[in-house]
Amino acid sequence: MSHSASETARLAVGGKTLDLPVVTGTEQEKGIDIAKLRDQTGYVTLDPGYGNTGACTSAITFLDGERGILRYRGYPIEELAENASYSEVAYLLVYGDLPSKRELDHFTARLAEKSVLPQGLEMVCNALPKGIHPMAALGAMVSALSGYYPALTNPNPTREEMDEIILTLIAQMPTLASYSYRRSKGLGYVPPKRELSLVANYLYMMFGPAEPDDIVVQAMRQMFILHADHEQNCSTSTVRVVGSSRANAFAAVSAGIGALWGPLHGGANQAVIEMLEAIHRDGGDFKKYLAMAKDKSSGFRLMGFGHRVYKNFDPRSRIIKAACDRVLGRLGIKDPLLDLAKRLEEAALKDDYFVSRKLYPNVDFYSGIILRAIGIPTEQFTVIFAIGRTAGWLAHWREMLESPGFRIYRPRQIYTGPTERSYVPLAHRG
Ligand code: CMC
Repeated sequence: MSHSASETARLAVGGKTLDLPVVTGTEQEKGIDIAKLRDQTGYVTLDPGYGNTGACTSAITFLDGERGILRYRGYPIEELAENASYSEVAYLLVYGDLPSKRELDHFTARLAEKSVLPQGLEMVCNALPKGIHPMAALGAMVSALSGYYPALTNPNPTREEMDEIILTLIAQMPTLASYSYRRSKGLGYVPPKRELSLVANYLYMMFGPAEPDDIVVQAMRQMFILHADHEQNCSTSTVRVVGSSRANAFAAVSAGIGALWGPLHGGANQAVIEMLEAIHRDGGDFKKYLAMAKDKSSGFRLMGFGHRVYKNFDPRSRIIKAACDRVLGRLGIKDPLLDLAKRLEEAALKDDYFVSRKLYPNVDFYSGIILRAIGIPTEQFTVIFAIGRTAGWLAHWREMLESPGFRIYRPRQIYTGPTERSYVPLAHRG
Protein backbone atom coordinates (compact mmCIF):
# COMPACT_ATOMS: atom_id res chain seq x y z
CA MET A 1 0.00 0.00 0.00
CA SER A 2 1.21 3.52 -0.66
CA HIS A 3 -0.07 7.00 0.03
CA SER A 4 0.22 8.72 -3.32
CA ALA A 5 1.77 12.16 -2.99
CA SER A 6 0.38 13.24 -6.36
CA GLU A 7 -3.23 12.16 -5.90
CA THR A 8 -5.53 13.65 -3.33
CA ALA A 9 -9.29 14.00 -3.09
CA ARG A 10 -10.55 17.51 -2.40
CA LEU A 11 -13.58 17.76 -0.14
CA ALA A 12 -15.38 21.02 0.51
CA VAL A 13 -17.67 20.77 3.51
CA GLY A 14 -18.90 23.07 6.30
CA GLY A 15 -16.97 25.99 4.85
CA LYS A 16 -13.68 24.10 4.86
CA THR A 17 -11.69 22.52 2.06
CA LEU A 18 -9.70 19.45 2.81
CA ASP A 19 -7.19 17.54 0.70
CA LEU A 20 -7.57 13.89 1.59
CA PRO A 21 -4.74 11.49 0.76
CA VAL A 22 -5.42 8.71 -1.74
CA VAL A 23 -4.21 5.22 -0.84
CA THR A 24 -3.33 2.79 -3.65
CA GLY A 25 -3.21 -0.98 -3.20
CA THR A 26 -0.93 -3.38 -5.07
CA GLU A 27 -3.73 -4.12 -7.58
CA GLN A 28 -4.21 -0.37 -8.11
CA GLU A 29 -7.42 -0.17 -6.08
CA LYS A 30 -7.80 3.30 -4.69
CA GLY A 31 -9.22 4.52 -1.43
CA ILE A 32 -9.64 7.96 0.09
CA ASP A 33 -8.03 8.08 3.50
CA ILE A 34 -10.50 9.87 5.77
CA ALA A 35 -8.76 9.09 9.07
CA LYS A 36 -8.46 12.81 9.88
CA LEU A 37 -11.87 13.85 8.51
CA ARG A 38 -13.74 14.18 11.81
CA ASP A 39 -10.85 15.87 13.61
CA GLN A 40 -10.51 18.47 10.90
CA THR A 41 -14.16 19.05 9.91
CA GLY A 42 -16.43 17.57 12.60
CA TYR A 43 -18.08 15.41 9.91
CA VAL A 44 -18.14 11.63 9.63
CA THR A 45 -18.99 9.51 6.58
CA LEU A 46 -22.25 7.54 6.37
CA ASP A 47 -22.20 4.18 4.56
CA PRO A 48 -24.84 1.72 5.78
CA GLY A 49 -23.72 -1.86 5.11
CA TYR A 50 -20.16 -0.54 4.48
CA GLY A 51 -20.47 -1.06 0.71
CA ASN A 52 -17.98 1.78 0.09
CA THR A 53 -15.89 1.55 3.19
CA GLY A 54 -12.45 -0.01 3.44
CA ALA A 55 -12.14 -0.91 7.13
CA CYS A 56 -8.49 -1.92 6.88
CA THR A 57 -5.69 -2.68 4.48
CA SER A 58 -5.04 -6.39 3.99
CA ALA A 59 -2.52 -8.49 2.08
CA ILE A 60 -4.49 -11.76 2.27
CA THR A 61 -7.15 -11.95 -0.45
CA PHE A 62 -7.70 -9.96 -3.62
CA LEU A 63 -11.18 -9.89 -5.07
CA ASP A 64 -12.32 -8.02 -8.17
CA GLY A 65 -16.07 -8.37 -8.35
CA GLU A 66 -16.38 -6.76 -11.78
CA ARG A 67 -13.90 -9.17 -13.38
CA GLY A 68 -14.80 -12.21 -11.26
CA ILE A 69 -11.26 -12.54 -9.83
CA LEU A 70 -10.46 -14.17 -6.50
CA ARG A 71 -6.87 -14.75 -5.39
CA TYR A 72 -5.42 -15.87 -2.07
CA ARG A 73 -2.06 -14.17 -1.51
CA GLY A 74 -1.83 -13.66 -5.29
CA TYR A 75 -2.67 -17.25 -6.31
CA PRO A 76 -5.84 -17.64 -8.45
CA ILE A 77 -8.58 -19.61 -6.72
CA GLU A 78 -8.89 -21.83 -9.81
CA GLU A 79 -5.26 -22.99 -9.46
CA LEU A 80 -5.52 -23.58 -5.72
CA ALA A 81 -8.82 -25.46 -6.05
CA GLU A 82 -7.28 -27.66 -8.72
CA ASN A 83 -3.90 -28.39 -7.14
CA ALA A 84 -3.51 -27.54 -3.48
CA SER A 85 -4.35 -29.35 -0.27
CA TYR A 86 -6.49 -27.54 2.28
CA SER A 87 -3.61 -27.47 4.79
CA GLU A 88 -1.38 -25.84 2.15
CA VAL A 89 -4.02 -23.18 1.54
CA ALA A 90 -4.50 -22.60 5.27
CA TYR A 91 -0.73 -22.14 5.65
CA LEU A 92 -0.67 -19.79 2.65
CA LEU A 93 -3.47 -17.64 4.03
CA VAL A 94 -1.96 -17.36 7.48
CA TYR A 95 1.75 -17.01 6.63
CA GLY A 96 1.63 -15.38 3.20
CA ASP A 97 3.52 -17.92 1.06
CA LEU A 98 3.09 -21.52 -0.01
CA PRO A 99 4.94 -23.80 2.41
CA SER A 100 8.05 -25.78 1.48
CA LYS A 101 7.71 -29.57 1.80
CA ARG A 102 9.37 -29.41 5.23
CA GLU A 103 7.13 -26.57 6.42
CA LEU A 104 4.02 -28.34 5.19
CA ASP A 105 4.98 -31.64 6.83
CA HIS A 106 5.54 -29.83 10.11
CA PHE A 107 2.27 -27.87 9.80
CA THR A 108 0.17 -30.94 8.99
CA ALA A 109 1.82 -32.99 11.76
CA ARG A 110 1.01 -30.23 14.28
CA LEU A 111 -2.57 -30.05 12.99
CA ALA A 112 -2.95 -33.82 13.42
CA GLU A 113 -1.53 -33.55 16.96
CA LYS A 114 -4.09 -30.91 17.91
CA SER A 115 -7.13 -32.50 16.33
CA VAL A 116 -8.12 -34.73 19.27
CA LEU A 117 -11.19 -33.60 21.25
CA PRO A 118 -9.98 -32.04 24.54
CA GLN A 119 -10.98 -34.19 27.49
CA GLY A 120 -14.23 -32.93 29.03
CA LEU A 121 -15.43 -30.92 26.04
CA GLU A 122 -17.83 -33.71 25.11
CA MET A 123 -19.79 -32.78 28.26
CA VAL A 124 -20.42 -29.30 26.84
CA CYS A 125 -21.76 -30.84 23.66
CA ASN A 126 -23.79 -33.46 25.52
CA ALA A 127 -25.46 -30.75 27.61
CA LEU A 128 -26.84 -28.96 24.54
CA PRO A 129 -30.51 -29.50 23.69
CA LYS A 130 -31.35 -32.25 21.21
CA GLY A 131 -32.18 -30.82 17.80
CA ILE A 132 -29.95 -27.74 18.29
CA HIS A 133 -28.72 -26.35 14.97
CA PRO A 134 -25.14 -27.55 14.30
CA MET A 135 -23.95 -23.95 13.91
CA ALA A 136 -25.21 -23.16 17.42
CA ALA A 137 -23.47 -26.26 18.76
CA LEU A 138 -20.24 -25.34 16.94
CA GLY A 139 -20.30 -21.75 18.23
CA ALA A 140 -20.87 -22.94 21.81
CA MET A 141 -18.07 -25.51 21.65
CA VAL A 142 -15.57 -23.12 20.06
CA SER A 143 -16.34 -20.54 22.73
CA ALA A 144 -15.94 -23.22 25.43
CA LEU A 145 -12.53 -24.20 23.99
CA SER A 146 -11.02 -21.15 25.72
CA GLY A 147 -11.65 -22.97 29.02
CA TYR A 148 -9.64 -25.96 27.82
CA TYR A 149 -6.72 -23.88 26.55
CA PRO A 150 -6.43 -21.10 29.17
CA ALA A 151 -2.80 -20.49 28.17
CA LEU A 152 -4.05 -19.40 24.73
CA THR A 153 -6.31 -16.59 25.92
CA ASN A 154 -3.65 -13.92 26.44
CA PRO A 155 -5.08 -10.59 25.18
CA ASN A 156 -1.63 -9.72 23.78
CA PRO A 157 -0.55 -13.06 22.31
CA THR A 158 3.06 -13.54 21.27
CA ARG A 159 3.75 -14.85 17.78
CA GLU A 160 4.28 -18.34 19.19
CA GLU A 161 0.98 -18.16 21.05
CA MET A 162 -0.78 -16.99 17.89
CA ASP A 163 0.66 -19.97 16.01
CA GLU A 164 -0.63 -22.32 18.71
CA ILE A 165 -4.10 -20.75 18.67
CA ILE A 166 -4.29 -20.91 14.88
CA LEU A 167 -3.23 -24.56 14.74
CA THR A 168 -5.57 -25.46 17.58
CA LEU A 169 -8.62 -23.85 16.02
CA ILE A 170 -8.02 -25.08 12.47
CA ALA A 171 -7.42 -28.61 13.82
CA GLN A 172 -10.32 -28.62 16.25
CA MET A 173 -13.08 -27.44 13.91
CA PRO A 174 -13.51 -30.74 12.00
CA THR A 175 -13.41 -32.69 15.27
CA LEU A 176 -16.00 -30.50 16.99
CA ALA A 177 -18.25 -30.52 13.92
CA SER A 178 -18.14 -34.29 13.50
CA TYR A 179 -18.47 -34.98 17.23
CA SER A 180 -21.61 -32.84 17.51
CA TYR A 181 -23.05 -34.43 14.34
CA ARG A 182 -22.51 -37.97 15.63
CA ARG A 183 -23.87 -37.09 19.02
CA SER A 184 -27.04 -35.68 17.35
CA LYS A 185 -27.43 -39.06 15.66
CA GLY A 186 -26.79 -40.98 18.88
CA LEU A 187 -23.43 -42.27 17.53
CA GLY A 188 -20.14 -42.48 19.43
CA TYR A 189 -16.98 -40.40 18.93
CA VAL A 190 -14.64 -41.52 16.14
CA PRO A 191 -11.21 -40.09 17.08
CA PRO A 192 -9.08 -38.66 14.25
CA LYS A 193 -6.40 -40.77 12.58
CA ARG A 194 -2.98 -39.15 12.45
CA GLU A 195 -2.12 -40.47 8.99
CA LEU A 196 -5.18 -38.89 7.30
CA SER A 197 -5.29 -35.37 5.89
CA LEU A 198 -7.49 -32.79 7.64
CA VAL A 199 -10.16 -33.21 4.96
CA ALA A 200 -10.13 -37.02 4.97
CA ASN A 201 -10.11 -36.99 8.76
CA TYR A 202 -13.22 -34.83 8.88
CA LEU A 203 -15.09 -37.29 6.65
CA TYR A 204 -13.70 -40.26 8.57
CA MET A 205 -14.79 -38.75 11.90
CA MET A 206 -18.25 -38.03 10.45
CA PHE A 207 -18.91 -41.34 8.74
CA GLY A 208 -16.21 -43.81 9.97
CA PRO A 209 -15.13 -46.51 10.66
CA ALA A 210 -14.64 -46.91 6.87
CA GLU A 211 -12.13 -44.45 5.39
CA PRO A 212 -13.72 -42.05 2.89
CA ASP A 213 -13.68 -42.57 -0.86
CA ASP A 214 -11.13 -40.44 -2.74
CA ILE A 215 -13.78 -38.76 -4.95
CA VAL A 216 -15.53 -37.59 -1.83
CA VAL A 217 -12.29 -36.39 -0.22
CA GLN A 218 -11.40 -34.42 -3.37
CA ALA A 219 -14.83 -32.80 -3.54
CA MET A 220 -14.62 -31.82 0.12
CA ARG A 221 -11.04 -30.55 -0.30
CA GLN A 222 -12.25 -28.22 -3.03
CA MET A 223 -15.17 -27.10 -0.94
CA PHE A 224 -12.94 -26.18 2.02
CA ILE A 225 -10.49 -24.32 -0.25
CA LEU A 226 -13.22 -22.35 -2.04
CA HIS A 227 -14.59 -21.24 1.30
CA ALA A 228 -11.24 -20.59 3.00
CA ASP A 229 -11.27 -16.80 2.65
CA HIS A 230 -13.20 -13.98 1.07
CA GLU A 231 -11.64 -10.77 2.40
CA GLN A 232 -13.84 -8.46 4.51
CA ASN A 233 -17.11 -10.45 4.39
CA CYS A 234 -19.63 -10.34 7.23
CA SER A 235 -18.16 -13.13 9.38
CA THR A 236 -14.52 -12.14 8.83
CA SER A 237 -15.36 -8.54 9.72
CA THR A 238 -17.07 -9.92 12.83
CA VAL A 239 -13.95 -11.87 13.78
CA ARG A 240 -11.90 -8.71 13.30
CA VAL A 241 -14.34 -6.57 15.30
CA VAL A 242 -14.46 -8.99 18.22
CA GLY A 243 -10.72 -9.66 18.07
CA SER A 244 -10.05 -5.92 18.02
CA SER A 245 -11.26 -5.67 21.62
CA ARG A 246 -8.46 -8.15 22.36
CA ALA A 247 -11.01 -10.78 23.28
CA ASN A 248 -9.36 -14.17 22.71
CA ALA A 249 -9.45 -15.90 19.33
CA PHE A 250 -11.91 -18.56 20.54
CA ALA A 251 -14.42 -15.80 21.33
CA ALA A 252 -13.72 -14.06 18.01
CA VAL A 253 -14.14 -17.25 15.93
CA SER A 254 -17.26 -18.21 17.86
CA ALA A 255 -18.72 -14.81 16.95
CA GLY A 256 -17.68 -15.40 13.32
CA ILE A 257 -19.62 -18.67 13.38
CA GLY A 258 -22.70 -16.75 14.53
CA ALA A 259 -22.33 -14.23 11.70
CA LEU A 260 -21.79 -16.95 9.11
CA TRP A 261 -24.91 -18.83 10.15
CA GLY A 262 -27.33 -16.27 8.69
CA PRO A 263 -29.07 -17.10 5.38
CA LEU A 264 -27.71 -13.97 3.67
CA HIS A 265 -24.16 -15.24 4.31
CA GLY A 266 -23.00 -18.85 4.88
CA GLY A 267 -26.46 -20.10 5.79
CA ALA A 268 -27.42 -19.60 2.13
CA ASN A 269 -26.13 -23.09 1.19
CA GLN A 270 -28.72 -24.71 3.45
CA ALA A 271 -31.36 -22.22 2.31
CA VAL A 272 -30.67 -23.00 -1.39
CA ILE A 273 -31.34 -26.72 -0.95
CA GLU A 274 -34.44 -26.02 1.12
CA MET A 275 -35.65 -23.69 -1.63
CA LEU A 276 -34.92 -26.22 -4.41
CA GLU A 277 -36.67 -28.95 -2.42
CA ALA A 278 -39.69 -26.71 -1.93
CA ILE A 279 -39.82 -25.95 -5.67
CA HIS A 280 -39.43 -29.66 -6.47
CA ARG A 281 -42.24 -30.60 -4.07
CA ASP A 282 -44.33 -27.88 -5.70
CA GLY A 283 -44.10 -29.68 -9.07
CA GLY A 284 -40.90 -27.97 -10.26
CA ASP A 285 -42.63 -24.70 -11.18
CA PHE A 286 -39.51 -22.52 -10.81
CA LYS A 287 -41.08 -19.65 -12.76
CA LYS A 288 -43.49 -19.11 -9.87
CA TYR A 289 -40.50 -18.73 -7.51
CA LEU A 290 -38.69 -16.41 -9.91
CA ALA A 291 -41.79 -14.22 -9.95
CA MET A 292 -41.90 -14.29 -6.14
CA ALA A 293 -38.23 -13.29 -5.94
CA LYS A 294 -39.00 -10.26 -8.12
CA ASP A 295 -41.96 -9.24 -6.01
CA LYS A 296 -40.55 -7.27 -3.07
CA SER A 297 -43.76 -7.70 -1.07
CA SER A 298 -43.28 -11.49 -1.04
CA GLY A 299 -40.22 -11.25 1.24
CA PHE A 300 -38.72 -14.12 -0.81
CA ARG A 301 -35.25 -13.96 -2.38
CA LEU A 302 -33.70 -16.38 -4.78
CA MET A 303 -31.21 -18.01 -2.42
CA GLY A 304 -27.75 -18.53 -3.86
CA PHE A 305 -28.16 -15.52 -6.15
CA GLY A 306 -26.55 -12.11 -5.86
CA HIS A 307 -23.46 -10.89 -4.10
CA ARG A 308 -22.33 -7.64 -2.53
CA VAL A 309 -19.07 -7.72 -4.45
CA TYR A 310 -19.43 -9.97 -7.52
CA LYS A 311 -21.29 -8.13 -10.26
CA ASN A 312 -20.40 -10.34 -13.21
CA PHE A 313 -19.91 -13.86 -11.95
CA ASP A 314 -18.65 -15.56 -8.81
CA PRO A 315 -15.55 -17.57 -9.82
CA ARG A 316 -16.24 -20.01 -6.98
CA SER A 317 -19.67 -20.85 -8.39
CA ARG A 318 -18.12 -21.72 -11.78
CA ILE A 319 -15.70 -24.14 -10.14
CA ILE A 320 -18.48 -25.68 -8.06
CA LYS A 321 -20.88 -26.00 -10.98
CA ALA A 322 -18.25 -27.93 -12.96
CA ALA A 323 -17.43 -30.04 -9.89
CA CYS A 324 -21.13 -30.81 -9.45
CA ASP A 325 -21.35 -32.46 -12.86
CA ARG A 326 -18.06 -34.30 -12.29
CA VAL A 327 -18.83 -35.56 -8.78
CA LEU A 328 -22.42 -36.59 -9.48
CA GLY A 329 -21.28 -38.28 -12.72
CA ARG A 330 -18.52 -40.24 -10.98
CA LEU A 331 -20.77 -41.24 -8.11
CA GLY A 332 -23.48 -42.20 -10.61
CA ILE A 333 -26.05 -39.95 -8.89
CA LYS A 334 -28.93 -38.27 -10.73
CA ASP A 335 -30.24 -35.49 -8.56
CA PRO A 336 -33.40 -33.77 -9.83
CA LEU A 337 -32.36 -30.71 -7.80
CA LEU A 338 -29.31 -30.27 -10.05
CA ASP A 339 -31.50 -30.12 -13.18
CA LEU A 340 -33.85 -27.76 -11.40
CA ALA A 341 -30.97 -25.51 -10.29
CA LYS A 342 -29.65 -25.36 -13.86
CA ARG A 343 -33.07 -24.47 -15.30
CA LEU A 344 -33.58 -21.86 -12.60
CA GLU A 345 -30.17 -20.33 -13.29
CA GLU A 346 -30.79 -20.26 -17.03
CA ALA A 347 -34.15 -18.53 -16.60
CA ALA A 348 -32.83 -16.01 -14.07
CA LEU A 349 -29.88 -15.10 -16.31
CA LYS A 350 -32.33 -14.19 -19.10
CA ASP A 351 -34.61 -12.21 -16.84
CA ASP A 352 -34.26 -8.44 -16.84
CA TYR A 353 -34.81 -8.19 -13.06
CA PHE A 354 -31.70 -10.29 -12.38
CA VAL A 355 -29.67 -9.00 -15.34
CA SER A 356 -30.23 -5.32 -14.54
CA ARG A 357 -29.28 -5.85 -10.88
CA LYS A 358 -26.26 -7.97 -11.83
CA LEU A 359 -27.51 -10.93 -9.80
CA TYR A 360 -25.59 -14.11 -10.62
CA PRO A 361 -25.33 -17.51 -8.91
CA ASN A 362 -22.94 -17.30 -5.97
CA VAL A 363 -20.79 -19.95 -4.27
CA ASP A 364 -23.78 -21.34 -2.42
CA PHE A 365 -26.02 -21.99 -5.42
CA TYR A 366 -24.46 -25.32 -6.42
CA SER A 367 -22.41 -26.25 -3.33
CA GLY A 368 -25.35 -27.89 -1.52
CA ILE A 369 -25.89 -30.25 -4.44
CA ILE A 370 -22.36 -31.63 -4.15
CA LEU A 371 -22.64 -31.83 -0.37
CA ARG A 372 -25.93 -33.76 -0.69
CA ALA A 373 -24.33 -36.09 -3.22
CA ILE A 374 -21.50 -36.94 -0.83
CA GLY A 375 -23.91 -37.60 2.01
CA ILE A 376 -23.64 -34.44 4.11
CA PRO A 377 -26.97 -33.68 5.81
CA THR A 378 -28.47 -30.32 4.80
CA GLU A 379 -28.23 -28.73 8.26
CA GLN A 380 -24.47 -29.44 8.26
CA PHE A 381 -23.78 -27.42 5.09
CA THR A 382 -22.96 -24.16 6.83
CA VAL A 383 -20.66 -26.05 9.19
CA ILE A 384 -18.59 -27.07 6.14
CA PHE A 385 -18.34 -23.39 5.21
CA ALA A 386 -17.24 -22.60 8.79
CA ILE A 387 -14.53 -25.29 8.83
CA GLY A 388 -13.11 -23.97 5.55
CA ARG A 389 -13.39 -20.31 6.59
CA THR A 390 -11.55 -20.82 9.90
CA ALA A 391 -8.19 -20.45 8.17
CA GLY A 392 -9.29 -17.12 6.65
CA TRP A 393 -10.74 -15.84 9.91
CA LEU A 394 -7.50 -16.57 11.75
CA ALA A 395 -5.29 -15.16 9.00
CA HIS A 396 -7.24 -11.90 9.34
CA TRP A 397 -7.15 -12.01 13.14
CA ARG A 398 -3.36 -12.42 13.08
CA GLU A 399 -2.87 -9.77 10.41
CA MET A 400 -4.99 -7.32 12.38
CA LEU A 401 -3.19 -7.84 15.69
CA GLU A 402 0.17 -7.42 13.95
CA SER A 403 -0.75 -4.38 11.87
CA PRO A 404 1.02 -1.17 12.89
CA GLY A 405 -2.21 0.85 12.82
CA PHE A 406 -4.09 -1.59 15.09
CA ARG A 407 -7.02 0.00 16.94
CA ILE A 408 -10.27 -1.29 18.39
CA TYR A 409 -13.10 -1.24 15.78
CA ARG A 410 -15.50 1.45 16.82
CA PRO A 411 -17.59 3.04 14.05
CA ARG A 412 -19.52 6.29 14.42
CA GLN A 413 -23.18 6.94 13.66
CA ILE A 414 -25.53 9.74 12.81
CA TYR A 415 -27.96 9.91 15.69
CA THR A 416 -31.62 10.23 14.62
CA GLY A 417 -33.44 9.71 17.94
CA PRO A 418 -35.21 12.31 20.11
CA THR A 419 -33.26 15.32 21.27
CA GLU A 420 -32.98 15.99 24.98
CA ARG A 421 -36.19 15.65 27.00
CA SER A 422 -36.95 15.38 30.70
CA TYR A 423 -37.82 12.21 32.55
CA VAL A 424 -41.59 11.92 33.18
CA PRO A 425 -42.58 10.05 36.36
CA LEU A 426 -44.60 6.88 35.64
CA ALA A 427 -47.77 8.24 37.23
CA HIS A 428 -47.78 11.20 34.83
CA ARG A 429 -47.38 9.19 31.61
CA GLY A 430 -50.49 8.67 29.44
N1 CMC B 1 -33.23 -12.43 -5.08
C1 CMC B 1 -33.99 -11.38 -5.48
N2 CMC B 1 -33.59 -10.10 -5.45
C2 CMC B 1 -32.35 -9.86 -5.01
C3 CMC B 1 -31.49 -10.89 -4.58
C4 CMC B 1 -31.98 -12.21 -4.63
N3 CMC B 1 -31.21 -13.22 -4.22
N4 CMC B 1 -30.31 -10.36 -4.17
C5 CMC B 1 -30.42 -9.05 -4.35
N5 CMC B 1 -31.64 -8.72 -4.86
C6 CMC B 1 -32.13 -7.39 -5.26
C7 CMC B 1 -32.50 -6.55 -4.06
O1 CMC B 1 -33.86 -6.69 -3.72
C8 CMC B 1 -32.16 -5.18 -4.56
O2 CMC B 1 -33.17 -4.76 -5.46
P1 CMC B 1 -33.58 -3.17 -5.57
O3 CMC B 1 -32.35 -2.49 -6.09
O4 CMC B 1 -34.72 -3.17 -6.51
O5 CMC B 1 -33.96 -2.74 -4.17
C9 CMC B 1 -30.90 -5.38 -5.41
O6 CMC B 1 -31.01 -6.73 -5.87
C10 CMC B 1 -29.59 -5.21 -4.64
O7 CMC B 1 -29.64 -6.07 -3.51
P2 CMC B 1 -29.04 -5.71 -2.10
O8 CMC B 1 -29.80 -6.46 -1.04
O9 CMC B 1 -28.89 -4.23 -1.94
O10 CMC B 1 -27.60 -6.33 -2.27
P3 CMC B 1 -26.56 -6.57 -1.11
O11 CMC B 1 -25.22 -6.37 -1.72
O12 CMC B 1 -26.88 -5.75 0.09
O13 CMC B 1 -26.80 -8.09 -0.72
C11 CMC B 1 -26.76 -10.48 -0.79
C12 CMC B 1 -26.04 -9.17 -1.19
C13 CMC B 1 -25.83 -11.62 -1.07
C14 CMC B 1 -27.04 -10.44 0.73
C15 CMC B 1 -28.09 -10.60 -1.58
O14 CMC B 1 -27.81 -10.66 -2.96
C16 CMC B 1 -28.92 -11.80 -1.15
O15 CMC B 1 -29.72 -11.68 -0.20
N6 CMC B 1 -28.73 -12.97 -1.83
C17 CMC B 1 -29.42 -14.19 -1.40
C18 CMC B 1 -28.67 -14.81 -0.22
C19 CMC B 1 -27.39 -15.48 -0.65
O16 CMC B 1 -27.35 -16.24 -1.62
N7 CMC B 1 -26.30 -15.24 0.13
C20 CMC B 1 -25.01 -15.86 -0.11
C21 CMC B 1 -23.97 -14.89 -0.55
S1 CMC B 1 -22.49 -15.71 -1.14
C22 CMC B 1 -21.83 -16.49 0.27
C23 CMC B 1 -21.11 -15.52 1.12
O17 CMC B 1 -19.95 -15.24 0.82
O18 CMC B 1 -21.69 -15.05 2.10
